[in-house]
Amino acid sequence: MTNMMYSASQQSELLAGAKQLLHIEVTPEHLAQLKDILNFADWTYYVNDNPVLADSEYDALFKKLKVLEQHHPSLITPDSPTQRIAKGLNKDFPSVAHLVPMLSLENSYDAEDLLDWDRKCRELSGQEDIEYCVEPKFDGASISLIYENDLLFRGATRGDGVQGDDITNNTKQIRSVPLMASLSKYHIRQIEIRGEVLINKKSFTQNNEKLVADGLAPLANPRNAASGSLRMKDPNEVAKRGLDSFLYHVSNLTLNENESYPDEFRTHYDTLKTLESLGFKTSFSNTRLIHGIAKVIDTCLEFENKRDELPYEIDGMVIKVNRMDLQDKIGQTSHHPRWAIAFKFKARQATSKLLNVEYQVGRTGSVTPVAKIEPVYVGGVTISSLSLFNQDVVKEKNLMLGDTVLIERAGDVIPYVVKSFPELRDGSEQVIDFPTHCPVCHEALYKPAEEAVWRCTNINCEAQVIEKIAHFASKDAMDIRGLGDALVRKFFEQGYLKSIAGIYSLPFEEMKTMEGFGEKSMTNLMEAIEKSKTQALNRLLFGLGIRYVGETTAKTLTRHISHIADLYSMSIEQLCTFEDVGIKVAGSIVDFFSHPDNRQLIAELEACGLNFRNELKQEIVSGGLAGKTFLFTGTLTMKRSDAEAMVEAKGGNILGSVSSKLNYLVVGDDAGSKLEKAKKLGTINILTEEEFMTLIES
Ligand code: IVH
Repeated sequence: MTNMMYSASQQSELLAGAKQLLHIEVTPEHLAQLKDILNFADWTYYVNDNPVLADSEYDALFKKLKVLEQHHPSLITPDSPTQRIAKGLNKDFPSVAHLVPMLSLENSYDAEDLLDWDRKCRELSGQEDIEYCVEPKFDGASISLIYENDLLFRGATRGDGVQGDDITNNTKQIRSVPLMASLSKYHIRQIEIRGEVLINKKSFTQNNEKLVADGLAPLANPRNAASGSLRMKDPNEVAKRGLDSFLYHVSNLTLNENESYPDEFRTHYDTLKTLESLGFKTSFSNTRLIHGIAKVIDTCLEFENKRDELPYEIDGMVIKVNRMDLQDKIGQTSHHPRWAIAFKFKARQATSKLLNVEYQVGRTGSVTPVAKIEPVYVGGVTISSLSLFNQDVVKEKNLMLGDTVLIERAGDVIPYVVKSFPELRDGSEQVIDFPTHCPVCHEALYKPAEEAVWRCTNINCEAQVIEKIAHFASKDAMDIRGLGDALVRKFFEQGYLKSIAGIYSLPFEEMKTMEGFGEKSMTNLMEAIEKSKTQALNRLLFGLGIRYVGETTAKTLTRHISHIADLYSMSIEQLCTFEDVGIKVAGSIVDFFSHPDNRQLIAELEACGLNFRNELKQEIVSGGLAGKTFLFTGTLTMKRSDAEAMVEAKGGNILGSVSSKLNYLVVGDDAGSKLEKAKKLGTINILTEEEFMTLIES
C-alpha cells in the first residue's frame, strides 16, 4: 500500500484541471472539480510540503469557487475550502466530553527506565520480543478531532482529559487538518483522532518578528504559541499564525453496522500509514518500526542528537507497542497507557537568580529590559543575560530583583524566563522599576497606547545612532567587514564616527594612534568601506533602517524603482500596490522619505559615491532572468550563496522547494529527492552546473 493520498495520475489530472479552469468561465458543473483541485492544492502545500500551484493561481481558483457558491448557495458543502473561513468571532469555547478520556504518557529519562518498561510490556503481553514504534514527541498543544461520515465534525482541546474546549472553528484554520477524509472506504462511521498542534520554528520566528515590529509582546515559545493560538477569539487571527498539526493516535473508531474491523488499523504503524494516505499529516514519516529495546534506545538518542535539525520542536520520543491486540492486552492505568511511554530528552531548563535588569535602546528607540542572571548552563550553552522583551512581560511573570527564576532554551529559540518562584522569596527582593527616561540620552520615554514597548523618540539619541550605524554596516546590509557593533561604539565614543555618512569620511590618519587598531585592520577596513560603495540598492535601502523595511521589502521596493529618489514622491496608495507592502509599511516609507534629515543623509551618501541607482532593474530590462525561478540541489563546486546571488543579480528568484512554480533546478553531485520530484513534475528545466553557468553568461 502506498501512503500517498493521491496517485501520480490523479495528481497530474488535478493539475491539468487547475490550469484549464484558470482560463475559462466556470459553471456549477465545475463546482466539484474546483473543490477537489483546491483541497488537493492545500494537501500539496500543507501536508506534502510540495506546492504545485502558484499562490496567484490558488487565489484565482478560490475566488471562482467563492463566486459560484455565492450564486448557488444550496451547492455549498462542508468540505468546501471556502468553509474554512469563519464568520464572526468565537463567543466562547463550550466544554465537550471526549469520546475516550485523553490519557497522558508515563515518562522515562534513560536507558534503564526503558529496559524496565520493556520487561513489563513483555510480561503483560506474554511475548518474548515486541515490535515497537518509535516516533517524535511533539512539543505543542494536544487536540482531539472527530470525523463523522467523512467530515470533520469537531475539534477539541485536551482540557482535563475528560472534557476539553470545543475549538472546531479554530481547528479549521489549521490547513493540514482536512475538512473531509474518505474514512467510509474502511466502513468507518466515526473516528476520534488525537494529535498535536504546533507552530514550526520558522513561523514562530516570523510571528514574533511581526509582533515585535508592531510593538507587541512576542510569544514566549512555540508550545505556548500553539496553545494560545488555538484559543484565540478571532479565527482569522488563528489562520495567520501558520499552525501545523501531527496526528498520532486513534482513540475511538465506530464502524458502520455489521462491518468488521479494518486490517489497515490493526497496528499503530499501519494506522499512521492509512491516516497519511487519507490526507492527514501524521508522525508517520518520522516513525521507526523496531524490534528489541536496545535499538529503541539507540533511536531515541539518535533523534535527541538531531532534534535541532527538525523544523519543529520535539521534547522527546514516544515508544508504542505496534500491535493493537497487544496494546489491549497490556492495558492502561487511569492515568496513562501501559503500552506506550515517553522518553524525555535532557532538560533545557534550569533555575538561576535574577541579579539585575538593564535597559537596552534599540535602533528604533525601543527600550528593552534585559535580565542579568547568575550564569547557568542550559542545553549546551551558558546563559547570563536574556531579554525580558517589555514591561508587560516583567509584570506578567511577577519578577523581582533577587528572585529565583526558571530559564528555558528551546532549540533555535532564544532563551527566556519561564517564571519566577515567589514562594522562595525571603523579603530581600526588590521591585523592578521601569525607567521613565531613556537610560542613554535621558529624554522622557513614550509608549503609544496600543503598544507594549516604551520608546525613546530622540532620533539623535546616542544609543540609536550607534545601533543605526552598526545596522548599516552589518552583513545583510552594506556588509562592511570589520565594522562590527563593538568598533562602531568605540569609534563613536572616541568622536571619530557620529553618523552613517561619517563612515565614508573616517579620519584614518588621526585614528592611527587608537589602541588595539593596527595598520592591518585599518587597511582592511578602508578596503571594505570602499567596496561597500558598489553594493546593490536593495542592501542600501535595507541598511537605511526604515521601520518595517526588512530585506524582502527592500528587494521588492528595488524592483520598482530606477533610483532611490523615485520613492520620494510615491504615495501610500502607490506603495500598497507592491507585493507584500501593506498600509503600515507604506506609511513608514512615506514618513521616512518626508523627513529632511533622511533626505540629507541620502544626499551626503550619494556625494560620497554610493550607488543609489538600481543596476538590478537595468539588467532585468536588458533581458536577464526576470521572472524566472531557480533552486539548487546537491553539492556544487561553487558556493551556493554565490550561485544564488548570480541568479538574483540577473533578476531571477530563488525558491525553497520543488513545485510547479519552479523553472530551473540546478543539480550538483548526490542530488536526492528534489531531483526526483522535479523529474516527476516534468515541467522543470534540469540543469548541470555547467549549463547553469552558460545560461548566466549568455
Ligand atoms: S500518544 C494514549 N504520541 O505528549 C496515548 N502523545 O506528555 C496518547 N504527545 O498527552 C498519546 N507527541 O499530548 C502520543 N507522538 C506522540 C506524541 C504525544 C506528543 C503528547 C500528548 C500527550 C503528552 C504526554
